[in-house]
Amino acid sequence: MPYYRSVGEVPRKRHTQFRQPDGSLYAEELMGQEGFSSDSSLLYHRYLPTAIVAADEYTPPAWSRSPNLPLKPRHLRTHKLDGAGADPILGRQHLLANDDVRISYVVADRPSPLYRNAVGDECLYVESGAARIESAFGVLGVTAGDYVVIPTSVVYRIVPVAPDPLRLLAIEASGHIGPPKRYLSVRGQFLEHSPYCERDVRGPEAPLLVEETDVEVYVQHRRGWTRHVYANHPFDVVGWDGHLYPWAFSIHDFEPITGRVHQPPPVHQTFQGPNFVICSFVPRKVDYHPLAVPVPYNHHNVDSDEMLFYTGGNYEARRGSGIEQGSISLHPAGFTHGPQPGAPERAIGAESFDELAVMVDTFRPLDLCAPALSCEDSGYAWTWAGRTRPPG
Ligand SMILES: [Fe+2]
Repeated sequence: MPYYRSVGEVPRKRHTQFRQPDGSLYAEELMGQEGFSSDSSLLYHRYLPTAIVAADEYTPPAWSRSPNLPLKPRHLRTHKLDGAGADPILGRQHLLANDDVRISYVVADRPSPLYRNAVGDECLYVESGAARIESAFGVLGVTAGDYVVIPTSVVYRIVPVAPDPLRLLAIEASGHIGPPKRYLSVRGQFLEHSPYCERDVRGPEAPLLVEETDVEVYVQHRRGWTRHVYANHPFDVVGWDGHLYPWAFSIHDFEPITGRVHQPPPVHQTFQGPNFVICSFVPRKVDYHPLAVPVPYNHHNVDSDEMLFYTGGNYEARRGSGIEQGSISLHPAGFTHGPQPGAPERAIGAESFDELAVMVDTFRPLDLCAPALSCEDSGYAWTWAGRTRPPG
């Protein structure tokens, strides 16, 4: 994350004696990315962050993925996946995945266990409900419309806040997720043309200081899953500083970039990850050239699969296709997509669109996971032709 935070107590100089009230040293932990040549934070623990007392292999809920064959645009109705309550981490229902990113959906009504994703960063989008994201860095309160970025290997848990269930879209990367580089100065400050900036970003504000012994942490790592038991609670940090921490940003603070004619898709980019981008479509004034056609033109993103999660408002270009709140469309490379028939004419003269959607564009093809197929609207592919099924 491009800006520095300092929370709780830290000594004036790094790597110097910093003592607890009983005279013993606090235990330093440096978390750093890219071989300590990129962002890092320095945390001060009451207890050793290295002290584990047990390690067991853990078998996560089974999942698999299969190629998008036959190649088709897909429409997934995620709200059909509503079922028995789940926790917001182990209860994730995987929908789409490749070797760079996995996209899941969960409706959660109970706290998750402590969890560490040692494979990559996570970007969570809150469709509805509210939660506390607790970590060694402190607490982040999140609500509908928030993105939360959890850096690789941060131990955290998600505690849904009643009364409503928490609906999350989880984007798990194989590397790091951050703001688009073109919006940052060489020293990491958001530039003037960025659609969001430091004032829109929230981070933890106070240490949690949990005292507990023999604490389980589920670790997803590069070779599987393991359950570690820590001698002391990992949220025992009295202070930390640095550029690496969980942070939140509301889609409602994303300032849309508009123009006289239709703006290209990169204006919606919000984050970049390894071989993918995340974009936000937010309510905005639309194209104001006197002859503008405000919905998108037909387009073929030849190097990317495009996943779009419809999270609010009305998505004008998709009207008549069955798309609803919680829908996901997948428009793969190898297929030209565009607005539904009639949408361009209908949109002429519109002054604003009230749409809210999160898009993930991937450079490698997205495979389909079993929950995706179970909530698929199989007629979507033929809607541009005004049909509900293939001939015959
Ligand atoms: Fe598209």
